[in-house]
Amino acid sequence: MGVEVAINTYRPKEPYKGKALSNVPLIVETSPNDVRHVTLDLSEGSLRYIEGQSIGILPPGLDANGKPHKLRLYSIASSRLGDNGDAKTVSVCVKRVVYKHPETGEEVRGVASNFICNLKPGDEVMITGPVGKTFLLPEDPTANLILIATGTGIAPFRAFLRHIYDELPTPWLGKVLLFFGMQKSEDYLYEEELAEYTKKGDFEIITAISREQTNAQGGKMYVQHRIAEHVDRLWSMIQAGNTYTFICGLRGMEDGIDAAFSAAASEKGITWSEYQYQLKQNDFWHVETY
Ligand SMILES: Cc1cc2nc3c(=O)[nH]c(=O)nc-3n(C[C@H](O)[C@H](O)[C@H](O)COP(=O)(O)OP(=O)(O)OC[C@H]3O[C@@H](n4cnc5c(N)ncnc54)[C@H](O)[C@@H]3O)c2cc1C
Ligand SMILES: NC(=O)c1ccc[n+]([C@@H]2O[C@H](COP(=O)([O-])OP(=O)(O)OC[C@H]3O[C@@H](n4cnc5c(N)ncnc54)[C@H](OP(=O)(O)O)[C@@H]3O)[C@@H](O)[C@H]2O)c1
Repeated sequence: MGVEVAINTYRPKEPYKGKALSNVPLIVETSPNDVRHVTLDLSEGSLRYIEGQSIGILPPGLDANGKPHKLRLYSIASSRLGDNGDAKTVSVCVKRVVYKHPETGEEVRGVASNFICNLKPGDEVMITGPVGKTFLLPEDPTANLILIATGTGIAPFRAFLRHIYDELPTPWLGKVLLFFGMQKSEDYLYEEELAEYTKKGDFEIITAISREQTNAQGGKMYVQHRIAEHVDRLWSMIQAGNTYTFICGLRGMEDGIDAAFSAAASEKGITWSEYQYQLKQNDFWHVETY
């Protein structure tokens, strides 16, 4: 990595007291979805994150049992230098969780996501971390990256792209292929920023817009269906070596992704589960789903 990867500098018993600097909506107001890009101040103390790590947020208040709320994890959406470039901030990309209770039909609001999405500049935030030291970019700038995201799973990839295209002193020469799944075109998080990177390197974006596009079977278009469409090319990249795959977002996509690769592997007489095990062992396959 070229830098030492710190973990757990701050723990829940003695969290870092940060504060919100900004809170920017990433989706138009008319959409039923609310996703925020929230930047937190880390200027006091030694808390620093690198791309691919997560932050713990301790929501204020007590749970139904009268105990303090447990921490929730969020992928870092900023690079190690932070959005201001001074390594004194960290940003997250958070979806406001609101749903109807399956039995009572009552509206339920997720504790931490609503706390974060409601933050105003100056509000205090209890922070832990950094968490994780495996979902990390390779150092070799000739490495190819296959990035697969649904929804807010784009967060670590925004961080990766900012780092490799805006911060590294030498160009990133490897191919970078992003598969990005979203409900509707209006849910395209960081659309302009991502488009800019297609001009800065060998970077390509393939979207799967589930509620506007259909797959070959006539169902919703998910990332795994796009992967199935491009599987020959992906398989060649993976087999050629020096290709790192990162998957982030909804856990439900994992089986579909495996099914797409499994079909391509079996045509070549390869058992995907065994092949994937080797990829994982050699650090070429990384998953962070929730
Ligand atoms: C490593 C990691 C990284 C993560 N990164 C991100 C990120 O970058 N951005 C992000 O937004 N989230 C991220 N998450 C998810 C995040 O940690 C929280 O789980 C999420 O924000 C919900 O927390 P909450 O406190 O708002 O909801 P809670 O109060 O904890 O309620 C959530 C619970 O409500 C229920 N629920 C939620 N939606 C529904 C539904 N539609 N129908 C029925 N029940 C439902 C489920 O039981 C769920 O466990 C990440 C999770 C992990 C583990
Ligand atoms: N029941 C739950 O506990 C539950 C379930 C899901 C999400 N959540 C909460 O919602 C938030 C996630 O929101 P998000 O913005 O990241 O994602 P999102 O907007 O809910 O989904 C992003 C995209 O992934 C698609 N998708 C859904 N299931 C998939 C699957 N099995 N395989 C591939 N793609 C799939 C969605 O399609 P469609 O929506 O059109 O199907 C959408 O196009 C989290 O905070 C999480 O806590 C909770």
